[in-house]
Amino acid sequence: MQLIKNTTDMKILLLGGGGREHTFAWKMTQSPHCEELFIAPGNAGTAQFGKNVAISPNDFESVAKLVKEEGIKMLVVGPEEPLVRGIYDFFKADDELKNVRIIGPSQKGAQLEGSKAFAKQFMEERDIPTAAYGEFTTDTLEEGLEYIANQEPPIVLKADGLAAGKGVVILDSVEEAQKELRAMLDGKFGEASNKVVVEEFLTGIEFSVFVITDGKSYKLLPIAKDYKRIGEGDTGLNTGGMGAISPVPFVDEKLLSKVENWIVSPTLTGLREIDAPYTGFIFFGLINVDGNPYVIEYNCRMGDPETEVVFPRLENDLVELMASLDDQKLNEVEIKMKEESAAAVILVSGGYPGSYEKGKTITGLENVEDSLILHAGTKMEEEELQTNGGRVIALTSFGVNFKEAVAKSLKSAEQVHFEGKYFRKDIGFDL
Ligand code: AMP
Ligand code: GLY
Repeated sequence: MQLIKNTTDMKILLLGGGGREHTFAWKMTQSPHCEELFIAPGNAGTAQFGKNVAISPNDFESVAKLVKEEGIKMLVVGPEEPLVRGIYDFFKADDELKNVRIIGPSQKGAQLEGSKAFAKQFMEERDIPTAAYGEFTTDTLEEGLEYIANQEPPIVLKADGLAAGKGVVILDSVEEAQKELRAMLDGKFGEASNKVVVEEFLTGIEFSVFVITDGKSYKLLPIAKDYKRIGEGDTGLNTGGMGAISPVPFVDEKLLSKVENWIVSPTLTGLREIDAPYTGFIFFGLINVDGNPYVIEYNCRMGDPETEVVFPRLENDLVELMASLDDQKLNEVEIKMKEESAAAVILVSGGYPGSYEKGKTITGLENVEDSLILHAGTKMEEEELQTNGGRVIALTSFGVNFKEAVAKSLKSAEQVHFEGKYFRKDIGFDL
């Protein structure tokens, strides 16, 4: 099947520089349609697949200049921030750029992630299952305090805007939650917490569902589960993600059909109702409460580290799949997935998610045999590979089940060395 119209090979620009982006670069360059890949800013891993360019994904002017100079035909947006800031709309408003294929939603569509209050209202209006909530600003502080007083702890408070993954706080008492509401409205997360969502706490087990959509049709990608806490047994501080597996044993046909009928379809109908163009990925952060799925959060992009297990299981040509969005051909695509399980274990810097040092020499990668090595926070410094972030390297392996895959990643994790290296050995412990 020819899914790409009017073009054979394309120059592609990928925005971002984490493990997710290394995985995109690895997967996209397997496609015959990827003529040349640029990554802004990329990392030492993405440099193996294309040209890293020192441009911030949020610097739209510089991104646009590069796209024009290089004749780039597809822009793949890894992280949420440029999407929430409106990179899609910025390109569509420029005559020279409006035909570039953008993989990512319009600013309006990105509000699903950019504003928790927007997302909650969107779900409430469409009866999409999610935790009961209230939203409050400084003007409605008294109502907020009273709302909290009527909640059964634990109580979940969420900064409305983007807060680099730190904007969710879960409190064990009414008093602590009231104190936290005041602190958030006082600017604890800057402008992001000018508005705060207070939410009922849902008890269950979380999982991540990804779809690719052109706004009309959608296709489900492999299901995944990530492990966010720093400590084993899901204890300690939240991180960007310490590991992931795909598929997820408890997500069976029955649960998945509820996810599609109650959550995915109404979300896409809703995006059309509000006229929000959407050509990209939607990440549904879900929780299974006694066999029923609820939305914890929407993201307008792929997950990290979930991408590190989702794309390795995807057999389709990713460039062709993404190009089908603009060509209205997604409905003709059949998603093919490897039957095997994939697991990723993330090696992080000592001290992360608190303060940590960068610039530690990384050695031993050549001894890794059974895993894909996906770089996150790495850089080349005078021919030496060094750490350059909290999450440093993801090691993805396959197995007949997730246990076998995790065991292979753990073996690989022992082969890689840098000062302060830490990783969780219990990915999948709760399954
Ligand atoms: P988020 O940044 O929205 O992903 O939230 C971070 C984490 O907080 C989630 O992955 C959940 O583990 C937890 N969380 C958020 N909202 C709720 C909720 N309503 N009930 C229980 N846990 C929640
Ligand atoms: N793994 C969670 C995220 O990407 O936000």
